[in-house]
Amino acid sequence: MINVGIIGFGTVGTGTVRILLENKEVLKERLGFEIKLRRIAVRNIRLQRGVKVPKGILTTDVDAVLNDPDIDIVAELIGGIRPAKDFMLKAIRNGKHVVTANKALLATEGNEIFFAAQKAGVEVGFEASVAGGIPIIKVIREGLVANRIKAVYGIINGTSNYILTKMTEENVEFSDALREAQELGYAEADPTLDIEGIDSAHKLAILASLCYGIPVPYKNIYTEGISNISTQDISFASDLGYKVKLLAIAKESDNKIELRVHPTMLPKNYLISKVGGSFNAVYVEGDATGSTLYYGRGAGDMPTGSAVVSDIADIARNIKKNAIGRVPVITKTVKDVRIKKIDDVMSMYYFRFSALDRPGVLSKISGILGKYNISIASVIQKGRRIGEAVPLVVLTHEAREKDVRQAIKEIDRLNVVMDKTVFMRVEGRGES
Ligand code: NDP
Ligand code: HSE
Repeated sequence: MINVGIIGFGTVGTGTVRILLENKEVLKERLGFEIKLRRIAVRNIRLQRGVKVPKGILTTDVDAVLNDPDIDIVAELIGGIRPAKDFMLKAIRNGKHVVTANKALLATEGNEIFFAAQKAGVEVGFEASVAGGIPIIKVIREGLVANRIKAVYGIINGTSNYILTKMTEENVEFSDALREAQELGYAEADPTLDIEGIDSAHKLAILASLCYGIPVPYKNIYTEGISNISTQDISFASDLGYKVKLLAIAKESDNKIELRVHPTMLPKNYLISKVGGSFNAVYVEGDATGSTLYYGRGAGDMPTGSAVVSDIADIARNIKKNAIGRVPVITKTVKDVRIKKIDDVMSMYYFRFSALDRPGVLSKISGILGKYNISIASVIQKGRRIGEAVPLVVLTHEAREKDVRQAIKEIDRLNVVMDKTVFMRVEGRGES
């Protein structure tokens, strides 16, 4: 028997507990031994959680979990940096294996936690920290171990995907869609993390660390969220054959690694573009496998609980087989990993200029684009209002980000451009 203690009994804690209790026999059958839920620490012991737990296992004393000599594995499911980090480090110091869903903590303080665990000879399980129920951590660490990872493209924030899907399919206002995502339990305690791309960047940092064997590179990720995306741009993108998705991208190019999170226009006919609602998907290109795609629920109590329990089961098996550390986390400490600056990234772009509907305006704009080596792929003027501002939508061929920013700065100073230009990066070729 392996004993488990849990800290936190909210959305993920509830799913984890439900699975441990309701699927106890299935787990026992598969593992050949029992996983016993021994203690759950919470703040409010009286709150009804919708799952019936054995008498006497709830406590408000976290130390009752951390100091219990019979507990083998501690699951930290409270979120945030502190006191979550202190709890994890204490558990590790006490010789306990730890499991967490806390991507914010791993992205920002993960190196310290992984190092402490390595030193103490215990494991850190973090399958639930990226893409909820999709076992993407196991895929990268084990399933694709034979591959050099050429690229990862992920829709890894359920809240943002839910909001963008609602805006695309039902023309729902941003704030209404966010409120629904919060009610459904997808959003972080601070939803800014979701809508400003920070949660995706946390998850991308964890994936990139595994893909490239580097210390968690959170600080190097260029991050832009979806809070400035309008239904107008979603609709124009759709007319051009694209969907707008918040994409987390890691790829190797020119012996450097690109790490970025931003709203991206993807051709509607790509499989990943069809991923809607709170669902997540991660596309991974290995040098041996070629393209692979993983899809499923990226948030919510049961899918995330499934990932937590899969870590518990994995660690329990390793304990039983005396195989702790079977799959190391950070395999090398590359200090001089070269991360490409966002300025040097090459991409195609969508621009929406707010330009006066008058002869000669397009030539002024295209002149500036040409000056910065930005080649136009297509132009559409949306509507006709002589002498007034109309949206002028331009798709470009590949251009350098730095050139794009400079060109926009110059274009926005033209007296025929009435508002700030909107731009989005575009991946792949759409069909209009
Ligand atoms: P919730 O806010 O729903 O739950 C947090 C729980 O932690 C609550 O039960 C709370 O207790 C408890 N808690 C908070 N602080 C303490 C403390 N100091 N001591 C003891 N208990 C404490 O969070 P979630 O379940 O949504 O998220 C948990 C983690 O999982 C986060 O790191 C999140 O990023 C991650 N995650 C969440 C997903 C989701 O779909 N929600 C998906 C993937 C990862 P009380 O109820 O008594 O206040
Ligand atoms: N807030 C996160 C999301 C939860 O919306 O994806 C899952 O990590």
